[in-house]
Amino acid sequence: MPAPAFIQLDRLDDRAQAEEAIAGLTALRAQVAPKFFYDSLGSRLYEAITETPEYYPTRTEAAIFAAHGPAIARAALAETGAAPALVDLGAGNCAKAASLFGLLRPGRYLALDISVAFLRDALERLQREHPDLAMTGVGTDFSRRLALPNDLLGGPALVFYPGSSIGNFLPGAALRLLREARETAAGGALLIGADLIKPAAVLDAAYDDALGVTAAFNLNLLRHLNRLIGADFAVRQWRHVAFYDPVAARIEMHLEAREALSVRWPGGERRFAAGERIHTEYSCKWTVADFAALLREAGFSRVRHWTDPQDWFGVFLAAG
Ligand code: AVJ
Repeated sequence: MPAPAFIQLDRLDDRAQAEEAIAGLTALRAQVAPKFFYDSLGSRLYEAITETPEYYPTRTEAAIFAAHGPAIARAALAETGAAPALVDLGAGNCAKAASLFGLLRPGRYLALDISVAFLRDALERLQREHPDLAMTGVGTDFSRRLALPNDLLGGPALVFYPGSSIGNFLPGAALRLLREARETAAGGALLIGADLIKPAAVLDAAYDDALGVTAAFNLNLLRHLNRLIGADFAVRQWRHVAFYDPVAARIEMHLEAREALSVRWPGGERRFAAGERIHTEYSCKWTVADFAALLREAGFSRVRHWTDPQDWFGVFLAAG
């Protein structure tokens, strides 16, 4: 039975992550990066978010692939050549990439994710369904830097970054990651999902669903921090806040203290006034023209895109 290989790229050790989290917590305006959502419960809560009726991005993107998958795959393979390495950024449960294996026939599959334990389970399951495809799981925090060892790729790649996770990055950082994606593609292409600007009510509901799954996802970050840095956050003292800012064209998510409180961890402490917030996420939205311009600015050419009938979500293919 073939087994997926696993490598650990950069310092993903808990101490480096803990230092980064503490630096954010103690900043003048407290902030904790969205990657800290994804402990193993967080990854499962995100999967649950994608099943709520309000959270349209995942099912809209899936509908675009269902309607245009063969055309998208043909266009992608025209850029990469046959049997490209498929490089999956933030692979999670690997389901989106796996659903394209039949159309893309990749030569190998490289799944990158910060949540290594979650990735390991997913990849081992997937390998059983696709025993002939070489698979490598790569534990890496590519939000800091995306760079793969040369011997992992061996030719033009199709870099796959679905789900509009690029929206977590402000424009400067998004540009940096896209440039690194272009280098990783090595003359191949990037296939990327981008969430599009739409009425604020739709966006507000998508990030504050009636069941409270997104609230649980946001609040779970506090439990993750309790484990990571030994803090004593009491989840009940916090509330989920999410709203669309139409000027900046982005969702902001925060955790807001319901009362004056303080949080302690070994070697540190922070007081929060009632109503004070920890910023946890941006989720940027674009017009088709804005996102295509961003891709070109990152050095990509021959940018094409596919959308759904409402123009709620875009799947973009760009040649490296
Ligand atoms: C995983 C970054 C695409 O921004 O829509 C979902 C994360 N946050 N609900 C998004 C998220 C709250 C999601 N991405």
